[in-house]
Amino acid sequence: MKETIAIAHPNFALVKYWGKKDSDQNRPAMSSISITVDSMQSKTRIISDEAANKHRLFINGKEESDLSRVLPSIDYLSKISKSDDYLVIRSENNFPTSSGLASSASGIASLVTAYEAHYGINLEMRDRIQASILGSGSAPRSLLGGFVLMDHKNNYNCSQILEKYDWPLDILICIVSNHKKKISSREGMEISKKTSPIYMDWLNINARHIGLALKAIKNKNLTALEKVSEENCKLMHRVMKTSNPSIVYMTETTQSCLAEIQRLRSSGHKLFYTIDAGPQIKIICDPSSSKLIKDSIKKNTDVIKIIDAGIGGPPKILNED
Ligand code: DP6
Repeated sequence: MKETIAIAHPNFALVKYWGKKDSDQNRPAMSSISITVDSMQSKTRIISDEAANKHRLFINGKEESDLSRVLPSIDYLSKISKSDDYLVIRSENNFPTSSGLASSASGIASLVTAYEAHYGINLEMRDRIQASILGSGSAPRSLLGGFVLMDHKNNYNCSQILEKYDWPLDILICIVSNHKKKISSREGMEISKKTSPIYMDWLNINARHIGLALKAIKNKNLTALEKVSEENCKLMHRVMKTSNPSIVYMTETTQSCLAEIQRLRSSGHKLFYTIDAGPQIKIICDPSSSKLIKDSIKKNTDVIKIIDAGIGGPPKILNED
């Protein structure tokens, strides 16, 4: 039985998307900018099994009955490969799954990368993007390393703003909880789109935030990137909170990390944070301050664990000849 293995890294958005243009094709309603993260990864193994009569998906060793995330991507790719094989997909994450750490993005990006190599189909970038978006709206950003722009006005084209070596920042991922989130991003976005009174403001601010973040990244200006990223993050969480039912992913520990970040900043350290659809906080900082920041977050808050990371690269095939 032929098997192909690929890895991809998660990405964290600094200018976020929260809201879909359409739910049938899973396309985001706005552009976004992210950083790919190196030490976290999804490793996905594809095996084509001639004896099988259905696709099977295992995540961290456990068989999943719900294949609704992967089937649209596989259907898209199988039209190109012209294969009707049933696949066994085994995906493993070296970090907590479905808890606001972008496991769906890295999972889908590694699946698309493994599929392409498995069938030797040499995809165009736009097909990789389309196949990935069908599985997770943020997954196309994990197809590239470094700082990535996904442009909704240009067919979701993804482009690299800077390479990981151009601006080697550190990322400290503070794990506040290992629990699966109660409301998935997909459900939450639909609720916000339908009910938040400030959803239109959120949509309208996107182009401005994208412009500011692009400039800050190109100029490697950490203070400017801090300002726009935190403003964008706070507004997204306000959209969630003003939804009906109200969606709150942050916990008391998240809040105590925020207070600690503020304290570190007022004593002169350069750092900023971002928070996605979960309680975890990601701190982005200059590598020269990361040890001190890590020690003081550990000492003064109840975070369970801190994962150290840098800016990561694109997906890789592991078993290439
Ligand atoms: C808050 O891309 O995970 O992380 O398409 O349902 O998989 P699905 O949603 P997903 O949503 C990401 C939301 C976010 C912001 C972002 O990454 O831009």
